[in-house]
Amino acid sequence: MHLTCGRRTRRLHFNDRTLDSRPMHDFHYTGRQLCCEGVAVEALARKYGTPLYVYSQHTLTERFQDLDRALAGVDHLVCFAVKSNSNQSVLRVLARLGSGFDIVSGGELQRVMAAGGAPGQCAFAGVGKSESEIEFALKQGVHTFNAESEPELERINRVAARLKKTAPVAVRVNPDVEAHTHKKITTGTYENKFGVAFEQIEGVYARASKLKHLRLRGLQMHIGSQITKVGPFEQAVRKVLPLVTRLKDRYGLEFFSLGGGLGIVYKPALASGAAAWWKTADARHIITPQKYAARLLPLLKSLGLRILIEPGRFISGNAGILVTRVEYVKRTGKKNFLIVDAAMNDLIRPAFYEAYHEIVPLTRKPGALIRSDVVGPICESGDFFCQDRPLPRAGQGDYLALMSAGAYGFVMASNYNTRPLAAEVMVKGNRAALVRERQPTRQIWSGEKPAPWLK
Ligand code: LLP
Repeated sequence: MHLTCGRRTRRLHFNDRTLDSRPMHDFHYTGRQLCCEGVAVEALARKYGTPLYVYSQHTLTERFQDLDRALAGVDHLVCFAVKSNSNQSVLRVLARLGSGFDIVSGGELQRVMAAGGAPGQCAFAGVGKSESEIEFALKQGVHTFNAESEPELERINRVAARLKKTAPVAVRVNPDVEAHTHKKITTGTYENKFGVAFEQIEGVYARASKLKHLRLRGLQMHIGSQITKVGPFEQAVRKVLPLVTRLKDRYGLEFFSLGGGLGIVYKPALASGAAAWWKTADARHIITPQKYAARLLPLLKSLGLRILIEPGRFISGNAGILVTRVEYVKRTGKKNFLIVDAAMNDLIRPAFYEAYHEIVPLTRKPGALIRSDVVGPICESGDFFCQDRPLPRAGQGDYLALMSAGAYGFVMASNYNTRPLAAEVMVKGNRAALVRERQPTRQIWSGEKPAPWLK
């Protein structure tokens, strides 16, 4: 098994190209082997074991630069959403590209700093910032606190007064628009806990302007995640535009943050035939940086504010895969189960959001597809990656890749069933490096202590 792939590359015949732009990621077949950039993924699986996350540095870079370039017509800052993938090497790639960061905890701020990111380029979001997190972020000099309620503004003001500082703040407006995404990742309607209601926001700014240790720096919104069309963004921007103009005139705001949420292609075109994958609605109609910018920049240009965006999935989603190995093939009368060594604790998206992740073999073999369930070893019926999906025949010891697992994959992993956290590898060209070692099993309970009476 060679580590590097030859130059003769054949792209995955699905899920790898948007119609109007370059390939969506750097995972492709060279002959029968699935490669990440110039590296055979199976060689990585054999070397580092499975379950294994593999990231492409080139995909991360291209996706960031694509967005950055699309927004070139306005003063802007792309703040990568750290929650989508916080591996130190991923953050390093983005920090070196000049990315800002959207953070949601003191821990994420520490991670960004450890990766060489600048606190002054960090936007601190989240509905429940603690006193100590606010204090830490203020001392480090974050770009903005995106506040989500009046009690939070009062708390930030109090902490800033104690530290004899002025805190830069933006308030998150909830524009009450429907993002047309999964209910668990919709955030911009009044059913959600996020932001301040559109009708209340001016009152909140008026009262916040009286708090001496706050500097009103911007307005923020974020309507949801995996939004595949520009429409909901445009609707929200159009609704908020008059408001942000008034707030700018009154309080001298400097920026308007549109939040994150740009969706990616998860679904391939297997059903419509491999040769016609690019004709699927998903691939043709998916949001792209170009479409996003073409519809939104004309609205935003005259505003004269700096534009911030907070993409997570768009940058990291297609840049990572989860590699797993088939432990057993179990044929019941009804089903063909591929029991693999990854589970819902490694990638919870299918169980939690009914999310679709494309599943492909690391080594392609000719032959018919058979309807299969790919399931993990965890003792829950919800522990599956797909059900009744036509997949190439796979046997014990074969490797599979769960595609587009770079966002909300490893970061949402847990130790459920006392399963160690997976290892992570970063690929750049023909090079690969272990960027997180597999968690040693004993470490899982290393913080536990028997009660004195149980010793
Ligand atoms: N900004 C704010 C304020 C957010 O809450 C989020 C995501 C983002 C930016 C980045 O959103 P993105 O560009 O990645 O869509 N675990 C779910 C997604 C949860 C998103 C939470 N907030 C999933 O696996 O689909």
